[in-house]
Amino acid sequence: MAPYTMDGVALITGAASGIGQACAVAFVEEGVKRLILADMNTAGLEETSNSLKKLNPEVETVLTRTDTSSPEEVQKMVDAGVEKFGSIHYTVNSAGVATASRAGSAELPIDAWDKVINVNLRGVWLCQRAVIQQMLKQDYLRPEQMRTGSPPERGCIVNISSIVGRSGLGGTGAYAASKHGVLGQTRVDAISYGAEGIRINAVCPGFIETAMTQKAINVGSYYDKLIDKNPIARYGRPEEIAQTVVFLASTRASYITGEEICVDGGVLH
Ligand code: NAI
Repeated sequence: MAPYTMDGVALITGAASGIGQACAVAFVEEGVKRLILADMNTAGLEETSNSLKKLNPEVETVLTRTDTSSPEEVQKMVDAGVEKFGSIHYTVNSAGVATASRAGSAELPIDAWDKVINVNLRGVWLCQRAVIQQMLKQDYLRPEQMRTGSPPERGCIVNISSIVGRSGLGGTGAYAASKHGVLGQTRVDAISYGAEGIRINAVCPGFIETAMTQKAINVGSYYDKLIDKNPIARYGRPEEIAQTVVFLASTRASYITGEEICVDGGVLH
């Protein structure tokens, strides 16, 4: 286990599965003991929470069934976390959906576009917005006051975008547009709130083995072709994304904001 270097409260959306779940584990391995875990899948949230408590029995969790595309539910999620823990220092926006088909714009139904944009873009924005409003109420530990183990600054947000946020590779227009949008709002708010002690970064995963990709991986062909072009020549693991997320959230990344890091086996090169 890594030495305990992180303290503070972490909020993770999409925490019932895949990358969000791996991020929760990585935060606990770094020393975080208070977590707000949000998802629409409540059974998955229980599973994540139980595995965190096995890792460290001192872990406390708030589990919230939240649809991140609903402003009311997002506010309730933040309020529930703050009521229990008083503040939020780290936030990972991992909740997301993939498009069901690879249809081009001419074939894509409008409601399919709206669904993906609502969760992947509006949802991330709603969470980012509500969390920034909360972080602005918290004390600001200026860099010269920072000690090892202190919550860094006011807070750090890490948004999960995608390599499809950096290219037109794979996915349909709605998914690519949502993930490009996440990078835009990451950069804009990093500029707006940097001087307020809030850092905001993004991670762009490549092809990671999770529930989201499992069906496509089983079917083969499309993903297999992309693996052929991948320098590391395999799918990534959720833990490999989570390591970059906790790095960006930690004081080790205290001078990084508005940045995006691809964790993709080099496929975009
Ligand atoms: P996953 O399907 O394992 O996890 C996504 C989680 O988000 C699920 O637990 C689901 O219940 C939750 N969720 C979906 N809609 C929600 C909503 N409206 N409100 C709250 N929770 C909701 O998928 P994975 O792979 O862990 O995806 C996590 C993030 O990573 C997503 O944003 C995805 O777009 C992104 N990503 C994944 C890649 C991959 O290859 N797996 C590649 C690039 C990005």
